[in-house]
Amino acid sequence: MRKMKTILVTGGYGFIGTNFIKFMFEEIKFSGRIINLDSITYAGNPFNLKDIEEKYNAEYIAVNASINDLEILEEIFTKYEIDTIVHFAAESHVDRSINGPAEFIRTNILGTFSLLETARNCWKTYENKLFHHISTDEVYGSLGKEGLFKETTPYDPRSPYSASKASSDHLVKAYFHTYGLPVTISNCSNNYGPYQFPEKVIPLMITNLLNKKPLPVYGDGTNIRDWLHVKDHCSAIYKIITEGKTGETYNIGGEHEESNINLIHQLCHAMASIKDNDEEEYLKLITFVKDRQGHDKRYAIDCSKIKTELGWNSSISFENGINETIRWYIKNQDWLNNIINGNYKNWIKLNYEKR
Ligand code: NAD
Ligand code: DAU
Repeated sequence: MRKMKTILVTGGYGFIGTNFIKFMFEEIKFSGRIINLDSITYAGNPFNLKDIEEKYNAEYIAVNASINDLEILEEIFTKYEIDTIVHFAAESHVDRSINGPAEFIRTNILGTFSLLETARNCWKTYENKLFHHISTDEVYGSLGKEGLFKETTPYDPRSPYSASKASSDHLVKAYFHTYGLPVTISNCSNNYGPYQFPEKVIPLMITNLLNKKPLPVYGDGTNIRDWLHVKDHCSAIYKIITEGKTGETYNIGGEHEESNINLIHQLCHAMASIKDNDEEEYLKLITFVKDRQGHDKRYAIDCSKIKTELGWNSSISFENGINETIRWYIKNQDWLNNIINGNYKNWIKLNYEKR
């Protein structure tokens, strides 16, 4: 098992990064240091880690800067003895990539390149070092009714977002083959759970259900996604960074496929039972809207490699995970409302001025 002392997490104020940092301190009881490098875009919310900041003030260090900032990257590598990088930072929303791809190219491709260059140049030796790159199943393209994405499935990205992630994956692999940089890559399916920005389908639908607003279904709602609770994604990442083989790719998935329309029906059902309300009132909010351009039909992951080689398994059933997630958003409506009304940005301005 790899020993880790100092982990550089990029994008730790985002949805999965936040859950990963909490998982490391609270579930794994990691006693080393975590440096969170995040430029706090619209998707980054330092409020997510307020508790960690207070409780682990010696072990947790936040740096507010971009992964494109080579000077700061070098400073971090010089100041802290980074042995592990877990690279989450990215522009992550497909719809935004369709409306404006430029930032996706800058962060996902150029930002990953900056990080790779810094690791290559600043690590004096590659012994016991690891650059773990977080990627997505979307790089494999779109499936028909049958089949699953395997690690060997040829890349076929179809949105600016997935093309930018595919590009960064290729760079990471190139640094392994060319320079021997110790890397691993994981390609994961759709995550859900606490702290997800309410632009993504599950938190968006929960928010709209809570506010009795229309539930916008793209196209006919038959597109399929493979859902995994974010905590299970975190445990898979932990397996890879401690036991994974360098140069390898691991697919991570929930083995739980749902069409969007079925998913939304289930959210209506779960919300009705949690709130003790009439399910029909929620179902009436379903509104079919114009389809996403180039909308991928189906994603589904074959995660047998990580299961057999690393002994990972998901542990949260979809039903329990969804119920727990809805309850989390109900309990944390202040968190949600601060995002919806934009107050979180004022709070960030006051508390986290750029260095
Ligand atoms: P997110 O959008 O919630 O968070 C992204 C974080 O990165 C934010 O905190 C943001 O401030 C930060 N960031 C953006 N640009 C930056 C930059 N230039 N420098 C430093 N920080 C920057 O994203 P997420 O959903 O948590 O996804 C995290 C990673 O996981 C991404 O790489 C994404 O491609 C991948 N992924 C996500 C899912 C999913 O379902 N959400 C599934 C598979 C893979
Ligand atoms: O598969 C992994 C990917 O999952 C990650 O790499 C991405 O970062 C993450 O955003 C997610 O991408 P998707 O495009 O699948 O997620 P999104 O929540 O945007 O949409 C899920 C499905 O729901 C998709 O088929 C589009 C549909 N949808 C989405 C929204 C926001 C709707 O029908 N209505 C909506 O309002």
